[in-house]
Amino acid sequence: MVVVGGAAAYAMLRPGLGLARKAARAYVPLQPWSLPSEPPASPVELARALIGAAVLAPSDWNAQPWRFEVENSSIRLVADPQRALPANDPDRRGMMVSLGAALENLLVAARAWGLQPTVTYFPFEGAGGVVAEVAWTGGEAHRDRGLFAAIPERRTNRREYDHRGLLPEHRAQLGAQVAEGPRLHWVDEPRALRELADLARDAVHTQVMDRRTGAEQYAWTRFDDQARRRGDGVPVDALELGGVTRWFAGRCLDPNSWLVRFGAASAAGQARDGIRSAGAAVLVTAPKRDEAQWLMAGQAYERFALKATQLGLAHQPVNAPIEVERFRGDLLRRFGARGEEPLMLLRLGRAKRCPHTPRRAVALVASFRTT
Ligand SMILES: Cc1cc2nc3c(=O)[nH]c(=O)nc-3n(C[C@H](O)[C@H](O)[C@H](O)COP(=O)(O)O)c2cc1C
Repeated sequence: MVVVGGAAAYAMLRPGLGLARKAARAYVPLQPWSLPSEPPASPVELARALIGAAVLAPSDWNAQPWRFEVENSSIRLVADPQRALPANDPDRRGMMVSLGAALENLLVAARAWGLQPTVTYFPFEGAGGVVAEVAWTGGEAHRDRGLFAAIPERRTNRREYDHRGLLPEHRAQLGAQVAEGPRLHWVDEPRALRELADLARDAVHTQVMDRRTGAEQYAWTRFDDQARRRGDGVPVDALELGGVTRWFAGRCLDPNSWLVRFGAASAAGQARDGIRSAGAAVLVTAPKRDEAQWLMAGQAYERFALKATQLGLAHQPVNAPIEVERFRGDLLRRFGARGEEPLMLLRLGRAKRCPHTPRRAVALVASFRTT
């Protein structure tokens, strides 16, 4: 009692300190991982619910590089440059893929709620950062219900998988999610997976040891309850790092610490063991270098991830061999995809489920203008 009372009195006598502490502990509102099964009746609430589905999408380092502008029956999806990753993603392909994934969630929800959405890519020729505009009409049959149900269940799973291969029918169903434009290339032979695992290990090691890319990754890694407080970034536990890094992650992932060599070794080991334990790996490519293609590849990736979730399959993107340019050629060769643009490298398999990562609430990312 004395200790509690004493602490409270101290905080009251030092208001400045009390306020600073309070600000440091402040939590942003988080988006719940649930969606209504029927669409809300009011147009504003419907737009809010569609955006609520969009923000549950995956994004590079959970940076959530999106904003949404609602005007009557349309939603503009806008890239947020404050949330770009200039060191790891200098040409913004990862950002476009993330935006594409958010767009796809929005479209899946619209179809599941019986709406007929139409998309205009890069209206205003991309001015104002607008990457897509979605409008809709009502009165359609309910479609995509299975993918819709998977939106709150999907998550990136970095745990070890159980080495079992994929069933041919699962592979066919996953392949069917990818329409014209983006392409899928598979590797599932154990020896080819082992070689790919070594490539991923080397690329991840390079990224963590590099001062710029390592520092950026560190800035988006969240320790203690930071992820819940800020509603973004990747909680360090979700990274599934082993060795001493498990205990001293704050130091081992800090590019200014000499311990970073241990962090790099753990992250590289996670990537290698992750791919070795997978049933298959998939490379998503676009036929050419073009932002609209990257956005569409993000849509394809999200449909793929939702279908995998529906089939009970775990997945994890392992994009370091795409992001570190000198590994790209080797990666494309291993998938027989020379001359194409690599966008997502994924491993797939069966694993124990893992928790969700936080999302900033719709109120923080959407603006509404209704007439
Ligand atoms: C373009 C892109 C690249 C990504 N690259 C990686 C990666 O290299 N390694 C990894 O573990 N996760 C990667 N992810 C997964 C994100 O870290 C993940 O989506 C984010 O932390 C949110 O978590 P969730 O997918 O569980 O909702 C990537 C996601 C996207 C969209």
